[in-house]
Amino acid sequence: MKAVICPAYGPPDVLTIREVPKPSPKKHQVLVKVMASPVNSGDVRIRALRVEGFMRIVMRFALGFTRPRQPILGLVFAGVVEEVGEAVTRFKVGDEVYGSTGFKQGCHAEYVCVSEKKVITTKPANASFAEAAALPFGGQTAIYFLRKGNIESIQHPKVLVYGATGAVGTAAVQIARHFGATVTAVCSSRGKELTQSLGADHIILYDQEDFTQVSDSFDIILDAVGKTSKRQCKHLLAPKGKFLSVESTDIAAERTEYLVFLRKLYEDHQYQATIDKVYPMEKAVEAHTHVDSGRKKGNVVLTMG
Ligand SMILES: NC(=O)c1ccc[n+]([C@@H]2O[C@H](COP(=O)([O-])OP(=O)(O)OC[C@H]3O[C@@H](n4cnc5c(N)ncnc54)[C@H](OP(=O)(O)O)[C@@H]3O)[C@@H](O)[C@H]2O)c1
Repeated sequence: MKAVICPAYGPPDVLTIREVPKPSPKKHQVLVKVMASPVNSGDVRIRALRVEGFMRIVMRFALGFTRPRQPILGLVFAGVVEEVGEAVTRFKVGDEVYGSTGFKQGCHAEYVCVSEKKVITTKPANASFAEAAALPFGGQTAIYFLRKGNIESIQHPKVLVYGATGAVGTAAVQIARHFGATVTAVCSSRGKELTQSLGADHIILYDQEDFTQVSDSFDIILDAVGKTSKRQCKHLLAPKGKFLSVESTDIAAERTEYLVFLRKLYEDHQYQATIDKVYPMEKAVEAHTHVDSGRKKGNVVLTMG
């Protein structure tokens, strides 16, 4: 099978397309023919080993000291079950699925094996494979952090999403709205139309206005891009308000339950997949370069089909 290989930590052009053996599923695994897989901020961070200080050492232990131990990056897949292991009960050949492999990665390839006990479920019926691939990374992170802010237990919550146009930000705006929040989105002028289309109630353009000067207070401030701090905006928090940041040491959980939740929202037309660009797998270097810019709107997706 063809795969995007990352033979060393470095810039996007370390990536190369190679023929590698097609995996075969173990007892509890399904073999997924990958149709689409996003390149997200997590993938480019791993490719470049872009972490600071002590965490750089931790990451080397976790991912490989001098180069990625798993040379096939890619944390999320959408595709079709092609083969099932002998003990698999949840899936059958032909099922259209989506999910995430976490630090095992391996999704930037034509095939990936995934345990049926891990983060995998059927994809939304009305989503293309590219759309399905655009849901898990931002969606799961947004659900995790908004729930950490106890959004469901607050009556008419007021939520500020800082960095509303990234993969996490676009998901957070929509999911907060779903939980009945009044959402204030902070983004650049370039992201205004997108943020409007996601249903944000108020929009602050950070290149025209200082969001920390607004006369409002929020139950949750979610920094979805890691570019502000509690110190900068704690005066905007309601008395029991919470500041949450994706750049904290907290790693968002990945759960099948979250994927089921996202599927339902998508099928009910309450959630849209925000896709900036789609590239064929062979253009992985261009895709990584675009994600590296830090300016993508929503998600960048590779297609393998
Ligand atoms: N803790 C966790 O478990 C977890 C999970 C997932 C992601 N993350 C982290 O979350 C961060 C965001 O991930 P992502 O994939 O959503 O990022 P992303 O999609 O790459 O974010 C890019 C977006 O951020 C906007 N942006 C850039 N600079 C900004 C600024 N100063 N203020 C406001 N918006 C700005 C950009 O638009 P403009 O340039 O037009 O503003 C662009 O739309 C990453 O650092 C990632 O590592 C953490």
